[in-house]
Amino acid sequence: MQNNKESRVVRQEVDGGVAVLTLANPPVNALGAAMRAALDGVLAQAIADASVRAIVLAAEGKVFVGGADITEFGKPQQPPSLPDLLDRLDASPKPVVAAIGGAALGGGLELAMACHGRVAAPSARIGLPEIKLGIIPGAGGTQRLPRLIGPDAAFPMMLTGEPVSAEKAAALGIVDAVVPGDLVAEARRRALELADSGALPRVRDRSERLTPAARETFEAQAAEAVKRDPDATNVHALVRAVRAGLEQDFDAAVAVERAEFRALVEDPRSKALRYAFFAEREAARVPGLPKDTPRRPIRTAAVIGAGTMGGGIAMCFANAGIPVMVIETEEGALARGLDRVKGLYAGSAKRGSITEAQRDERVGRITGAIGLENAQEADIVIEAAFEDMDVKREIFSKLDQIAKPGAILATNTSYLDVNAIAAVTNRPQDVLGLHFFSPANVMRLVEVVRAEKTAPDVLATALDLGKRLNKLPVTVGVCFGFVGNRMLERRSRAGERLLLEGALPHEVDAAVTGFGFRMGPFAMGDLAGLDIGWRSRKDFGGRAPVADSLAEQGRFGQKTGRGFYLYPDGARTGTRDPEVEALIARVAAEHGVARRSFTAEEIIARLMYPMVNEGARILEEGIAARPGDIDTIWINGYNWPAWRGGPMHWADTVGLKTIAEALSRFAAETGDDSQEPAPLLKRLAAEGGSFAGLKNA
Ligand code: 3HC
Repeated sequence: MQNNKESRVVRQEVDGGVAVLTLANPPVNALGAAMRAALDGVLAQAIADASVRAIVLAAEGKVFVGGADITEFGKPQQPPSLPDLLDRLDASPKPVVAAIGGAALGGGLELAMACHGRVAAPSARIGLPEIKLGIIPGAGGTQRLPRLIGPDAAFPMMLTGEPVSAEKAAALGIVDAVVPGDLVAEARRRALELADSGALPRVRDRSERLTPAARETFEAQAAEAVKRDPDATNVHALVRAVRAGLEQDFDAAVAVERAEFRALVEDPRSKALRYAFFAEREAARVPGLPKDTPRRPIRTAAVIGAGTMGGGIAMCFANAGIPVMVIETEEGALARGLDRVKGLYAGSAKRGSITEAQRDERVGRITGAIGLENAQEADIVIEAAFEDMDVKREIFSKLDQIAKPGAILATNTSYLDVNAIAAVTNRPQDVLGLHFFSPANVMRLVEVVRAEKTAPDVLATALDLGKRLNKLPVTVGVCFGFVGNRMLERRSRAGERLLLEGALPHEVDAAVTGFGFRMGPFAMGDLAGLDIGWRSRKDFGGRAPVADSLAEQGRFGQKTGRGFYLYPDGARTGTRDPEVEALIARVAAEHGVARRSFTAEEIIARLMYPMVNEGARILEEGIAARPGDIDTIWINGYNWPAWRGGPMHWADTVGLKTIAEALSRFAAETGDDSQEPAPLLKRLAAEGGSFAGLKNA
């Protein structure tokens, strides 16, 4: 074998007439230039080697192949291209069988589908997730998958991008068998069997699944998909590519797919989604926290408070196999909390998202107790009690007496000063914030609040734990509202101001949903309950004259049938209420604010630019380490449209100069100095810089 970099990423062993080619390019065996060249080389050698009758394609590590190398997108392509390599694989005169030992995603599945047989380990996950990156499969996936399992089954898989289990893949016909034992041995056996039989089954030649009924179903699915998301360029492209495969020959249809893929790689939506993919992974790395920082063992947990939040957090532990005790102050609250959790698990089992056995196991991992003293065995205690500093101080000073040495003491506060909470203990190094989002058992984001004295091993343990709980932990510093709520507060304030100046709630909400959020701020307020913000403004200060007037009238939103909108007879979607619109006009007059109309574009600028400005302050203060951390928080905790890449990425696409100038104008128009651009934003705007550029500064 050649001794160069290329040969190191693919190992080749010939034994008993079979060449086993093993991809070894950690972490995910991505099909970057070196990997493609190496695979091309060893494949040619195996084909040329007279002692080789059949070939097995296997991979090292827990991922078979995570796809094309996304970091290469948008850069000049080094040959061989993935489609060319797959053509050569497909055309191999010797049978090739893929041994899929782990995830085969995107280009990974395309590689496997260009082989002549496929077997998978039970743990394998198989799919074409390209849609999530704003693109479509670009190496034959839109052609081979429909030929393999029918366009009616292939299109939904490519449309959602969700991978399927090995078992499901076998049932669909994507893989020939699921092999619990020695996967490579079984792949060898099948490869030799194919060689003996002289058969060389190629997916490209198959057409038996392209039936008129399957085509018809696909067309109906396509129409529905395009209707649901008419602006998603990649959904349109996916439809065109799959349809090409039904109307044209394989090579012509692959050319259509390739052209669509190339165009999409340049699409700003795809750029934003790729950015978000890497930002999310980068968030796991905390500057100054070495990879080898020791971890504390977490075997058991306790959650203080059996409310919605506490119950949801307890479920995260139970789901991850960690026994957890929920602690309350009185029996009634505990019983209600535990019942709610049981009800949620029962619902999941009924819907089929977990089995009945899983339901019982998970319920069994959650115990309840009265009194903080029961937290003494826990490796981590998460306080999810009432959002009140005195309550939290009392709990933490008691926990300080009770918890075992080395236990991590976390607060789930959304706003409060974690340094002040830590200060009531004699072990501030063990204290940090874990800000879960509601519903905690569903939402992936957790803001991990690093307080002044939080020890590195406590932070590292919390980040690891977040991953174990299947969450997305992002480290933030201590300030009021941390990253997410601090920026949200800016948006809320700007929203109120817009109402006074003449925009109506439904206009603001329409602009925000038009921007890509699932809900506008006022519909959201009505759903969450207007009493929540009202009470917190009372506690923490601040005025929202319109929202406060509504709350004072008992208009708490959906739960009272009236808020910014009307919800007659328990309706879930609100309708405009002339009373509210009159109230807004009255409040505006009281405040002497002149009213005018706003375009959707103006509304977005008014709402989002102040958030970006706050993001800049957050960066200046070091509350977030990188713009990407802020974006990860907003995409995963606040439903910011991922295809816009998060507020900081979006700001770069708008242009920081435009934003800074607009903010100065807003400050002048509203007399609110806090709208003035933050020094960092001002500097970047003046330099023609961007938030993305900060990384390289
Ligand atoms: N290209 C480049 N880097 C990749 C990558 C890819 N396709 N997939 C993962 N990585 C990198 C990550 O950025 C991360 O890097 P880091 O350690 O420097 O942060 C590292 O690999 C490990 O990734 P994860 O932290 O995500 O590892 P997990 O073990 O949690 O998950 C995975 C593994 C399920 C494979 C997950 O990484 C994943 O979903 N990857 C992307 C899958 C995908 O979208 N594939 C399609 C690519 S596009 C394509 O194939 C086009 C083709 O049709 C032509």
